Amino acid sequence: MRHLLSIAAISAILAMQGCKQTGSDCVVSSPDGNIRLTFALNGDGKPSYSVTFNGDTVVRPSLMGFEVSGEDPDFRSGFKFASRPVMEDVDSVWVPVWGENDTIVNRYQSLRVALEKKASDGTQRRLDIDFRVYDDGIAFRYLIPAQGNDSLTITEEYSEFAMPADLTAWWIPGDYDTQEYEYNRSRLSEIRGINENADKLGNVSQTAFSPGGVQTSLMLKGSDSLYMNIHEAALVDYPAMHLDLDDTTLTFRSWLTPMPDGTKATVALPFRTPWRVVMIGDEATDILATDIIYNLNDPTKFEDTSWITPVKYMGVWWEMITGKSSWSYTDAENFDLATFDYTKARPNGRHAANTANVKRYIDFAAANGFDQLLIEGWNTGWEDWFGKEKEFVFDFVTPYPDFDLKGLNDYAHSKGIRLMMHHETSGSIPNYEQWMDTAYTLMNNYGYNAVKSGYVGNILPKGQNHYNQQSIRHYLNAIRKAADHKIMVNAHEAVRPTGLARTYPNLVGNESALGTEYQNMSTAHETILPFTRLKGGPMDFTPGIFRTDLGSFAPGNKEHKRATTANQLGVYLTMYSPLQMAADLPEHYMEKADAFQFIKDVPVDWSKSRYIAAEPGEYIIVARRDKNSPDWYVGGVANEPTDYKLSFDFLPQGTTYEATIYADAPEADAITNPEAYVITTGEIDADTTLPIHMARGGGFAIRLQQKN
Ligand code: NOJ
Ligand code: CA
Repeated sequence: MRHLLSIAAISAILAMQGCKQTGSDCVVSSPDGNIRLTFALNGDGKPSYSVTFNGDTVVRPSLMGFEVSGEDPDFRSGFKFASRPVMEDVDSVWVPVWGENDTIVNRYQSLRVALEKKASDGTQRRLDIDFRVYDDGIAFRYLIPAQGNDSLTITEEYSEFAMPADLTAWWIPGDYDTQEYEYNRSRLSEIRGINENADKLGNVSQTAFSPGGVQTSLMLKGSDSLYMNIHEAALVDYPAMHLDLDDTTLTFRSWLTPMPDGTKATVALPFRTPWRVVMIGDEATDILATDIIYNLNDPTKFEDTSWITPVKYMGVWWEMITGKSSWSYTDAENFDLATFDYTKARPNGRHAANTANVKRYIDFAAANGFDQLLIEGWNTGWEDWFGKEKEFVFDFVTPYPDFDLKGLNDYAHSKGIRLMMHHETSGSIPNYEQWMDTAYTLMNNYGYNAVKSGYVGNILPKGQNHYNQQSIRHYLNAIRKAADHKIMVNAHEAVRPTGLARTYPNLVGNESALGTEYQNMSTAHETILPFTRLKGGPMDFTPGIFRTDLGSFAPGNKEHKRATTANQLGVYLTMYSPLQMAADLPEHYMEKADAFQFIKDVPVDWSKSRYIAAEPGEYIIVARRDKNSPDWYVGGVANEPTDYKLSFDFLPQGTTYEATIYADAPEADAITNPEAYVITTGEIDADTTLPIHMARGGGFAIRLQQKN
């Protein structure tokens, strides 16, 4: 049994360094001294912070605070210190249930400032701010102590991030309902223009609130020695934070996702907000490697985590995504689900989740060592949901007449695998809330232990959205309820993750970005996601597409997946997730059994990870050691053709490995020749250097089996 536990926690209250009661600055340094954060209360009693890295300013003085509803909305000026600031030095290590590394160091210096002011009605207002300064970034959060009233309604948060220069950014537009965008790469000063002309780029923003609006995690680059990333950690009972850029001052300001009445959050006091985080490094790989987001989340409270396991899975899924078959059992439309008799309805002949087809997948997945098989379209309602905004469609318990719920689960278990449940909520959160317990109980009864949930369409009832406080509460409620039933969760279209998987390790995946199911994505996309979306937690990216000409098996589909076969193998390494899918059809894996071998072999849980080289939007190369064997795996993905001399100096000296190398053939190209790959074998040790060629949209994957 594995426990998430803190091995050591040494903390000491330090002598205060230059922090006086009023008027003067408090300075906190990272343990290695390279990052320095200064907190100041300016002349108007406005709290602000600034940050330097290796002596250079990387965040200029930036204001902090809130506006609240009521007669005196000002919660951001007129403050003075309520007591002496407190600093602490923390150095601890914790053990994740699953992850890129088997131990994580949590080392920082902290500062807590306690502020107070008199509101216009004479009442006392209190605001505390916590700062943490790590070697790879800074973070702060607000603590609003109890102060007479039980709750407070926040109308806006005013946390600024004043940028040091016109940095390069990899960003997606602000949107309250989706993160499924291709990334833009531009200077900060170009964001507004690109957002204003978004439809010209085919990048239509649905509910962009402001032309300066972007989502986090936001990847930034200054010079070749400055990489930064702004995100949030531990988003609990609060709206997701967008950023709005004032491009005259190059200052981002927090912009919280609104409730239908326009307010942002109503919080019970005392309350702590999510952390606002700026990751900072002098190499791009520093941003990939930092664990700051998980470190800022609370340790898990689960005493037993033995039921949480990494999962490699296949699915009755790609055939529907590509249009080869359907989720629905009939072609009926606009009926009343409550009275519709499926047993009398005419099947459409294209329903994929039928017992015979599911058995075929079970046989294949079991024979090839997979843990689970996802089945979508198993339950009634698929004819009558999409785009209709009906509040009550799915009940999550009634199978279609051709899906043998008990028989298929028994069959899967007899072969040593489990079925994975699917709950499409159609965005109707009240409906799902009402069914969750029953649905999870059904899962327990039939032996499911993982659910893929989804929130397609507008969140219902109308006026709600995907990232406001109410929706955020629901996503966490579902994770907690699932945990009560020992169920792992992979939620699509839910809010971008913020490291909550440390506290709730049954959150093994999210989508929350463009995944493989969006088939036309640019060849840069996979080289950006690990710098952005993945900073908050794993993504159910669903790689492993071997047959890229989708029309070749799904009649009428004109799309091409833009990735080489070697790229699709490399993604299993460059995009870490404890939940990994082999998304293509069994018959396509049978066509390329030699390349499929890598998907069968690759672990999904690691004891060590080393980011070797990377540039956002260009390429990523990573080496990882299996958690359950001494074997190493190395993988890469590239946007444009890339040649790299790979050194294996991360291997222990004196140990030889048998290498199997899956690479792009010289003529491979994601668009013109995606399926050209070569597999070679040989011996590799710490002194080996290997030239690697990655095609456009290409990549590579290497398995290193220890010999001696
Ligand atoms: C969108 C999800 O991302 C996809 O994976 C799923 O198949 C469909 N919704 C249907 O629920
Ligand atoms: Ca989706």
